[in-house]
Amino acid sequence: MSRLQAEHLYKVFGRRPDQAVQRLEGGTHRDELRADGTTAAVIDASFTVEPGQIFVVMGLSGSGKSTLLRMLNGLLEPTAGRVLFDGQDLTALSPRELRSVRSTKISMVFQHFALFPHRSVLENAAYGLEVQGVARAEREERAAQALELTGLAGWEKSWPDELSGGMQQRVGLARALATDADLLLMDESFSALDPLIRRDMQDQLLELQKRLKKTIVFITHDLNEAMRLGDRIAVMRDGEIVQQGTAEDILVRPSNDYVASFIQDVDRSRVLTAGSIMEAPAAGSADEDLLAEAPATVTSETPIAELFAPCSTSGAAVAVTDEDGGVIGLVQRETLLAALGEEPQVEPQADTQVPAPRDEAEKVIAGA
Ligand SMILES: Nc1ncnc2c1ncn2[C@@H]1O[C@H](COP(=O)(O)OP(=O)(O)O)[C@@H](O)[C@H]1O
Ligand SMILES: [Mg+2]
Repeated sequence: MSRLQAEHLYKVFGRRPDQAVQRLEGGTHRDELRADGTTAAVIDASFTVEPGQIFVVMGLSGSGKSTLLRMLNGLLEPTAGRVLFDGQDLTALSPRELRSVRSTKISMVFQHFALFPHRSVLENAAYGLEVQGVARAEREERAAQALELTGLAGWEKSWPDELSGGMQQRVGLARALATDADLLLMDESFSALDPLIRRDMQDQLLELQKRLKKTIVFITHDLNEAMRLGDRIAVMRDGEIVQQGTAEDILVRPSNDYVASFIQDVDRSRVLTAGSIMEAPAAGSADEDLLAEAPATVTSETPIAELFAPCSTSGAAVAVTDEDGGVIGLVQRETLLAALGEEPQVEPQADTQVPAPRDEAEKVIAGA
């Protein structure tokens, strides 16, 4: 069973939302609704997230990402469609049942860390457990473990303002992990961090994920971040999911010009692997002949950024080998250069979104 399923989700803000959904289903464009002061924030979004996956929702500011995320934990009621969490229809739960699911099974990490300034790091990390009514000794122990997981052992007694932005976000992550929730919802969680710290956090999340195997829905407006983190990526535009797939699917086979324009900014050399660009060796050629021609070897998982050095020692090509050392393909130098494309690297767009208001952040953390 999928951990999370979104089925034909719609969220319309403004007048007569149900009627607006019918019109959208009938093919009316959201811009026409906009003229009546109605905003179709999410239009017919369907996807599934498997246990242990990182599912990334990527799109520009205003494309509907946060609205979609808030329907996934029941904070916003869909105008139409359903959310199934472990097969349970969230949209059919009573407010009380929903609160219980939200406080025990789902955790949310925000862009702005939503830490309480007058609580210690440990108390901040323990907050979700406090709301669940877990006794002090146990919650402090679990919070301390979560802080250790996020690299903050030794900082338990510090105050949030003694920590750097990156460390504060680790506290936010520790708070989410301390509750043992299966599902983590992360809304632009790393977007406010400096690029280097942001990369560190991405690495740490991937590292943690290997051990903890949570199910994560991660929202970002940065395609590089999406590509690094996402097992699957959904690209949103104007409320609609315009493409879903793996990083490679999206990079190699963008489904339309909009997605294509996004991927011009991506560091392709980190996303594409030798396996995705290699060519099969000519039929009947012996491994030893191939290796004489292309003595440097890599695996199919090697990012193409790491093929330049072997390519230059090797001459014109690199051999891609399997676990037993057999040659499964060749990457020619020209193929490597072509795969990188000619687009200049562009800085990702500045994030213009307004942070979730503080009281809402607290409400969600508290599972209220
Ligand atoms: N509570 C609300 N009332 C009215 N419009 C809203 C509300 N929340 C979001 N919107 C609108 O829905 C659209 C999608 O917003 P949002 O989900 O925040 O996008 P993103 O997170 O991708 O930046 C925007 O046009 C936004 O103005
Ligand atoms: Mg948002």
